[in-house]
Amino acid sequence: MVNIKDVRISNSRFTAKPPGMVAVFVGGTSGIGQGTLKQLAKYATAPKVYVVGRSKSSAAPLLRELESMNAKGAFIFMETEISLIRNVDTVCREIRQNEKKVDLIFLSSGFLSLQGRQETSEGIDTYSSVSYYARLRVVYDLLPLLSASVHPRVVAVLAGGKERAIDINNLELRNGYTAIKAVNTATTQTTLAFEELAKSYPMITFCHVYPGFVDTGALNRFMGTFKGIWAVPATLATWTVIPVLNMFGRTAEEAGEWCLFVATSARYPPAEPNDPEELGVVLPNGVPIAKSSVSDGKCNGVYRLDNYGESVQNECDGILAGYRSDEVGKTIWDETLAVWETALKRGEGES
Ligand SMILES: NC(=O)c1ccc[n+]([C@@H]2O[C@H](COP(=O)([O-])OP(=O)(O)OC[C@H]3O[C@@H](n4cnc5c(N)ncnc54)[C@H](OP(=O)(O)O)[C@@H]3O)[C@@H](O)[C@H]2O)c1
Repeated sequence: MVNIKDVRISNSRFTAKPPGMVAVFVGGTSGIGQGTLKQLAKYATAPKVYVVGRSKSSAAPLLRELESMNAKGAFIFMETEISLIRNVDTVCREIRQNEKKVDLIFLSSGFLSLQGRQETSEGIDTYSSVSYYARLRVVYDLLPLLSASVHPRVVAVLAGGKERAIDINNLELRNGYTAIKAVNTATTQTTLAFEELAKSYPMITFCHVYPGFVDTGALNRFMGTFKGIWAVPATLATWTVIPVLNMFGRTAEEAGEWCLFVATSARYPPAEPNDPEELGVVLPNGVPIAKSSVSDGKCNGVYRLDNYGESVQNECDGILAGYRSDEVGKTIWDETLAVWETALKRGEGES
């Protein structure tokens, strides 16, 4: 079991790693992503970090802070509405033009809402795009650069270990939309898509993390989406229940410490490392290598992790085992490719 002391030891050792890591953060402008970005700026030696977000002016103070924390680092803001697949492609094209490798993709974009299915102009449900389709498109677009890294890693912060049975015939949630279905679908899709990608890209580590309860303001924003008779109780809750709940949550800073550990530790090796000598920051004493998501005696390079960086084994394993034997991962990946294609065609029609 890892504790916060191990995490801090590991993160401080990251400083000794060779300079020049290249990282891409989607969702780094607030919450857990921002917490992780600050930890990376604290410990990495001369990193180059692309921060993708919607407002350059809102992110300006954060960028100044990152630069003051790491004078040799480069922090490049890429302003775009990431829920659109064509925007993801534009951003990633620019990264591909400028870089020869990417070492880390950190995905934490997201929001909670009770507004129901809200489509982007490309026809994808916005929550599903920000939490799954656009995130995975970043990974897909940057696979060649990830493959060129010595120890490439993708970390998605969502709900690893909390996969649920989903409606395979309604992955786009066009029928019977609920917020819970949207969260469950994005969660199960993420794990199965990672397992599918890891088969073709065994040099990449894929981590799907559940961060626990973190006080990022997301709950307050969620309360703001309650309408009608629920609006007043929700507003009251933001002044009463939620501040109490937040006292039991982690701070974004501490969540960032745990996430930097997941993003850099040798605890999470890929299935077939590019360089078996270079798996990440050396493990703290007594901390074992984590168990990958498929446990047939061989590591598959995918990790479903709880808020302590532990591999989750729970009743969801049964659901996933059934999906694996039915090759649902392939169905999900094929459908993801089809959703992107339709989105891009629809986007073309608009421009
Ligand atoms: N906080 C928790 O307790 C908790 C618990 C379990 C799971 N999670 C999951 O962990 C992830 C990170 O959570 P968090 O609390 O750190 O999130 P957050 O602070 O609320 O937001 C993260 C990022 O999402 C981006 N974003 C939000 N709405 C967007 C939209 N409509 N279009 C494009 N980008 C959008 C924002 O970037 P810009 O506004 O700069 O574009 C922001 O930087 C989420 O998927 C969340 O569901 C969180």
